[in-house]
Parts: sequence; structure tokens; C-alpha cells
Amino acid sequence: MRLSAALLAFGAKLAAAVISLEVQGSDFVNPNTGDRFQVVGVAYQPGGSAGYNPALGFDPLSDGAKCLRDAALMQILGINAIRVYNLDPDLNHDECASIFNAAGMYMMIDVNSPLVGQALDGSAPWTTYTSTYLNRTFAIVEAFRHYPNTLLFFSGNEVISDAASGKIDPAYVRAVTRDIKNYIAKHSDRTIPVGYSAADVRSVLFDSWNYFQCSDASDPNDTSRADIFALNSYSWCGDSSFTTSGYNDLVAGFTGTSIPVFFSEYGCNVPAPRVFTEVGTIYSSEMMPVFSGGVVYEYANEVSDFGLVNISSDGTVDILQDFYTLQNQYSKVDFTTIQATKANSSAVTPPVCSSKLVNATGFETNFTLPSLPPGAAEIISKGVSPLPSGKIVTISDWTVNYTVRNPNGTVLTNLAVKPLANDAANMPGTNTASSSTTTTSSSGSATTTAKKNAGLGRADLVWAPAVALGAVMPCLFTMLL
Ligand SMILES: *[C@@H]1O[C@H](CO)[C@@H](O)[C@H](O)[C@H]1NC(C)=O
Ligand SMILES: *[C@@H]1O[C@H](CO)[C@@H](O)[C@H](O)[C@H]1NC(C)=O
Ligand SMILES: *[C@@H]1O[C@H](CO)[C@@H](O)[C@H](O)[C@H]1NC(C)=O
Ligand SMILES: *[C@@H]1O[C@H](CO)[C@@H](O)[C@H](O)[C@H]1NC(C)=O
Ligand SMILES: *[C@@H]1O[C@H](CO)[C@@H](O)[C@H](O)[C@H]1NC(C)=O
Ligand SMILES: *[C@@H]1O[C@H](CO)[C@@H](O)[C@H](O)[C@H]1NC(C)=O
Ligand SMILES: *[C@@H]1O[C@H](CO)[C@@H](O)[C@H](O)[C@H]1NC(C)=O
Ligand SMILES: *[C@@H]1O[C@H](CO)[C@@H](O)[C@H](O)[C@H]1NC(C)=O
Repeated sequence: MRLSAALLAFGAKLAAAVISLEVQGSDFVNPNTGDRFQVVGVAYQPGGSAGYNPALGFDPLSDGAKCLRDAALMQILGINAIRVYNLDPDLNHDECASIFNAAGMYMMIDVNSPLVGQALDGSAPWTTYTSTYLNRTFAIVEAFRHYPNTLLFFSGNEVISDAASGKIDPAYVRAVTRDIKNYIAKHSDRTIPVGYSAADVRSVLFDSWNYFQCSDASDPNDTSRADIFALNSYSWCGDSSFTTSGYNDLVAGFTGTSIPVFFSEYGCNVPAPRVFTEVGTIYSSEMMPVFSGGVVYEYANEVSDFGLVNISSDGTVDILQDFYTLQNQYSKVDFTTIQATKANSSAVTPPVCSSKLVNATGFETNFTLPSLPPGAAEIISKGVSPLPSGKIVTISDWTVNYTVRNPNGTVLTNLAVKPLANDAANMPGTNTASSSTTTTSSSGSATTTAKKNAGLGRADLVWAPAVALGAVMPCLFTMLL
């Protein structure tokens, strides 16, 4: 089931649904309107780490028909951004990027992968900071920089999660951020933000934020400074509150940030079923002065049971009750007003890099970064070769052909992506759920199945295995290995 995508004739004009966003001070901003953007995102990595397989030639954004199916459901949910963890720069992502673009969704792209040599080894970063690693990293940038809906690149995910990693990894993560930003400055026709996605380990969280957001006093154009800072936070569990969840400490800690801060993952699943009451707080006056929204973990269900839908091997989708619970929470938020609020025009001056910015014992205080590994300067100067590329293509058919069932077993009919007007980002209500018909082959259940998980939900517990393995991986995928 492949999409027939007519390639764009040379010079033809193509409507792009989204405007490339910019970072201005601590906000994501639509440069045409001056409106501040709140991320309403979902993590998108069907199959977990196995969803990326260069040997077999697929990744989460390589199959247009599947992206069409998922983009239609995300439109109905109310999503305006996806985060994708593991991608192959040499695959063609044009159909998927074009579908998400037309559906009004931005893409947050992690440059790393769990495969050997495709991420920094947090236990010995100097062994993996090589020109081969950087070449692949720049290749991801090349593969995605042409799409207007590429929102940002994550230079690292949860590399720092305790005192030991806080001692050896920050300088390398900041160096990779520097290298990607230098590559973009040299080769991209627009600036694309680059930053780090942190584990919510409070003992090193604010030190990490300061280490990455600070600016070198002697170099006002210091390209190693992060453009954004994000955190994977599972501290709101069940029907919690601003103070019980510790969100109040996050707001207090990040107040005065010089760059956008947001949740790159949230959605604790103990107790189950999830009630997603954090949504009302994330998009409230308690959080929004400091936070720019968040990304729910995650779209496709894996063994860790964080999914909003089950995807079968034949591509059939069973919507889980959490999907409708989350949709209902979004529907209570006035996104029309929120997304039309002007950005704060007063930029915050970043703190000057100094050992005074960090508190945790042993956390890196050296702001002199590792130099480029041999051979990397030439790649930055000449560009990756051969050059991966990407372009928005015409999608001729927006109809979803996979079977999609509701939790009660009814089948959704007339399911399709609704291409949005030029410049529009998706919002709840743009694509109202299609009608459903009853079916005898119901495999779903209206009642929520008991979640059998290992008591996940505290960041410090969840991320520990990644450190033990010395791996840099998207959160829970580690636990599947
Ligand atoms: C650099 O990346 C490109 C794109 O993935 C790849 O084709 C090429 O082999 C890489 N070169 C090196 C030296 O690793
Ligand atoms: C470091 O400690 C001081 C004093 O308690 C506090 O004001 C500051 O916010 C802390 N900084 C970080 C990055 O935690
Ligand atoms: C910083 O960048 C600006 C704009 O590109 C340039 O005018 C200025 O000379 C640069 N400053 C330094 C110290 O390199
Ligand atoms: C704009 O940012 C400044 C600097 O952080 C802050 O003092 C001010 O309260 C902000 N204004 C609004 C309306 O959020
Ligand atoms: C700081 O890091 C740089 C780059 O790795 C290194 O050359 C320098 O010796 C370090 N300085 C200290 C005081 O450790
Ligand atoms: C879906 O099926 C219809 C009818 O068989 C077909 O015309 C259309 O091209 C298909 N769409 C996709 C995206 O495969
Ligand atoms: C099944 O669930 C869907 C989605 O919640 C709902 O719209 C529909 O009315 C339900 N149908 C039946 C027969 O219960
Ligand atoms: C979804 O998948 C999980 C794990 O495979 C399974 O336990 C559950 O029954 C499935 N739910 C539905 C509605 O298909």
C-alpha cells in the first residue's frame, strides 16, 4: 500500500501548511504573525527502537501510507507536533514529511540512534565523538533541513542522568550542539533550532540547563549555546496537582530562562488508566509563562504500555481509551486563544558561562569544549557526501486505507487527513472524528485492560538502565533490549 506521490515539477508552487517557526528569546514564534507557539506534541516511534532498521530499509517516516493513517488520527486528537527518535538519513522521507506538513504538524528530530556509533556513549563520550559519528549526525540535518515543518533537532537525549554523567558528558553534548549549529549555519538556508532533551533528574536538571543555555563572555556569537532545552518528565502521575507533581519546582527553577523550555516527553502511566489532568495545567497560566507546552509519550503502544493506539503487524490500528481521554483533556483547553497570543518581545540575556552556574558536586565546570575530531572540519566546510536530501511533494490521495477501530470495536469510516489552509498548524477540532460502523470482528474492548508494567513513572527509576548500559537512547526503548 504505497502512496502515489507525484513529484513536484521544477518551479511549481506548492502550498505549505506550516510556517517555519523561529526561536525568539524563550519562545517559539511564528515570524509572520508574531504569535507564540505552544507545543501540543506526541512521541512517534512505532515499533520502538525496532521501528528503525537501516538494514531492512525502514524508519518511522519512510512509509507514506502509514504516516497518512497516523497523521489523520493525530489530527483528530489535536496534535501539532511529533517527536521522532531514530531515523535513517539515506531513506526517503518526502511523503511522510509532506503529510505531516499538510496536516499542520511540526517535526522534532533526534539526530541519534541506539545503533553503535550513532550516538555518544555516555560512559566514555570521547570514544564516540568521531567524524564518522558527526557525518551521520549532519546527514540527518541534511535529510530534514529542507522541510518547512522541521521544528528542531535534539543533539542528545538523556545523556546526563546522575553526578557521574554530569561530570563527563556536558562538554561533549555541548560540542555536538555546536557542531550541528555550525553545520546548519554553513549549509541551511534557514536557522533550525538545536538543543538537548534531558532526563528529569532534579539533582542535575538545572545544572544541565544552565550549562547548555549559558553564553561565552568572550564570544557573543558562541554557536555552542543551545537554542532550546527540553525535559522528559514523568512526575505528574494520576490525578495530581501543580504542587504534588513538582511542576511548581520546575516553573520556579526555569523562571528567567533565556531559551524555550518544554516537555519533550510526559505522560506517567501509573496509576492506569491515565487521566491526563496535567494537560489542563501545562496549558494554564501556571506553566505557560515559562513552559512552551509538551510532547505526550507516546503514539504507538509498546510493551511499556504508554501508547495511545495499538498497531498490528498488518497495519490495522486499535485506538486505546487513553487516546480519547487525552483528546477530551485537550478539548477543555482554549487553544484558539493560546496559539494566537503574541510572543514576549523582551529577550532575556543568557547567563555568562561560569562555574557559579552549577551546583551539583562534580558537575562539569569546564566550559572549554572538546575540539572537533580529525576530519570533521572538512565535512562541515564541504558538506556531507553523498548528500541526503528532502523536499515537499504533492500527495494525491488523503484517504486512509488501513482499518482503524475504536475501543468498542466499531470501525472508523471516511478516515482521511484534512490538508489545512496555508500557514495553519493543527488544533483540536480541525478534523472531527469520522463516522463509525459496527463490526462483528471486534477485537477491542471498551473497558481498559489492566496495565502490567514495572511501576514506571519516576524519572530517576525509568532512566537508570540507560546509564547502566552506557547508552544514549530514547527513554524506555532501552528496557526492551
Ligand atoms: C557520510 O554520510 C553519508 C550520508 O549518510 C554517507 O553516504 C557517507 O558514506 C558518510 N561518509 C562517511 C565518511 O562516513
Ligand atoms: C544553585 O544554588 C543556589 C543557592 O541555593 C540557587 O539560588 C541556584 O538556583 C542553584 N542553581 C542551580 C542551577 O540549581
Ligand atoms: C557576531 O555576529 C554578528 C552578526 O553576524 C557580526 O556582525 C559580529 O561581528 C559578530 N561578532 C563577533 C565578535 O564575531
Ligand atoms: C516577558 O519577559 C520578561 C523577561 O523574562 C518578563 O519579566 C515579563 O514578565 C514577560 N512578560 C510577559 C507578558 O510574560
Ligand atoms: C577543559 O577542557 C578542555 C577541552 O577538553 C581541555 O583542553 C582543558 O584542559 C580542560 N581544562 C581543565 C582545567 O580541565
Ligand atoms: C485507498 O483506496 C482507494 C480505493 O481502493 C484508492 O482509490 C486509493 O488510491 C487508496 N489510497 C491510498 C492512499 O492508498
Ligand atoms: C463506539 O465508540 C465511538 C468512539 O468513542 C463512539 O463514537 C460510538 O458511538 C461508539 N459506538 C457504539 C455502538 O458504542
Ligand atoms: C493493546 O496491546 C496490548 C499489548 O499487546 C494488549 O495487552 C491489549 O489488549 C491491546 N488492546 C487492544 C484494545 O487491542
